[in-house]
Amino acid sequence: MAYEIGKDDLVNLYDLPTLQKFSTDFLLALGATDEEAAIITDGLMTASQWWHPGQGQGLEKFFRFYRQINNGGIIPNAPMQWVQEGPSYALLDAAKGFGYVSAHRAMARAVEKAKVTGIAMVGVRHSNHFGIAGYHALHAAKHGLIGWSFTNAKAEMAPWGSAQVVLGTNPWGIAIPRKDTHAIVLDMALTMSGKGMMMWYEREGKAMPDNWALTPTGERTTDPTAAMQGPLLPIGEYKGYGLSLITDVLSGVMTGSLFGMDVFQDESNHDVGHVMLAIDPGAFMPREAVDARLEKLIEQVKGAPPINPAQPVILPGEVEFKRMEQREREGIPLSRKTVDELRTLASQLKVDFPL
Ligand SMILES: NC(=O)c1ccc[n+]([C@@H]2O[C@H](COP(=O)([O-])OP(=O)(O)OC[C@H]3O[C@@H](n4cnc5c(N)ncnc54)[C@H](O)[C@@H]3O)[C@@H](O)[C@H]2O)c1
Repeated sequence: MAYEIGKDDLVNLYDLPTLQKFSTDFLLALGATDEEAAIITDGLMTASQWWHPGQGQGLEKFFRFYRQINNGGIIPNAPMQWVQEGPSYALLDAAKGFGYVSAHRAMARAVEKAKVTGIAMVGVRHSNHFGIAGYHALHAAKHGLIGWSFTNAKAEMAPWGSAQVVLGTNPWGIAIPRKDTHAIVLDMALTMSGKGMMMWYEREGKAMPDNWALTPTGERTTDPTAAMQGPLLPIGEYKGYGLSLITDVLSGVMTGSLFGMDVFQDESNHDVGHVMLAIDPGAFMPREAVDARLEKLIEQVKGAPPINPAQPVILPGEVEFKRMEQREREGIPLSRKTVDELRTLASQLKVDFPL
């Protein structure tokens, strides 16, 4: 969804190198290794350039890191271990380490294996929030492979027909590499929106779309405050619920992590599960032929006449890559609230605060 950022007084713009340096300093002060700080900073910067600050995937994640490192939920430099391995699959025990780091290592291993076998699936157990799904998928695309990443998450969605939360937003990131241009990147939660965007609407005093969430008693609502305690609605109604369930089977049940209502419940042990898939697009026919056929399909899709001429058809990921270029030029938006809270944390950790 292309969210409007809203009132200017809620947001300031910051340049990428400033945020990169702050992120690295902050993570090192929290005990991350140089490698971990580099992986997480790269993910957070990508998220900050792609998404609305209300989606909460950029520096907003520092509050969670700080909290969970202090209560033992995240262990910097955790002793992650490969616990299962075959030619085309592997399972990583993340040992409560950073989710960004375990997911990055898992996708790197999936890429390595898929280059030999054509396809590989790598699971991760006992992990934490892995950030944005598309970031991990894109890692495979940068190596010429299709990347597919997904994770389970805190229960915020009800099974279709109920108002009791059981399943997570369980996002999917799928990246299809293209020759000489950006990959197609479908990066989406399996819910229509998230609590962060609802809080943003609440703060701005705006009504939200009525297909985002239900009240705790199961009524549709446009009032973000009324919806805050209720379940998020899945994408595509019962179909999104089905996808979320299946995502939890693969990333929670199969990997040995927590699942359903249990994942994310204990602040000191979120025990999240992820899955990374890498697929060689040239497994069935010569790669050049696949690349040419893909461009033909894209030509057809983008050639479809728009209903509104001002809004041409776009590919998944296109809006984020455009936003990334714009934010490289103009700066990255951070809400006042985030900056104020980061200032407090930075002073506690004695980290230079340049914002
Ligand atoms: N780790 C977690 O637990 C977790 C949970 C939820 C979300 N997330 C992340 O939050 C981020 C935001 O997710 P979201 O679902 O709110 O994203 P979103 O709804 O803003 O976008 C979803 C996808 O739709 C595409 N899209 C948007 N408009 C389009 C159009 N007109 N035509 C074609 N494609 C279009 C976008 O390019 C994107 O790939 C993602 O990176 C996701 O992975 C993470």
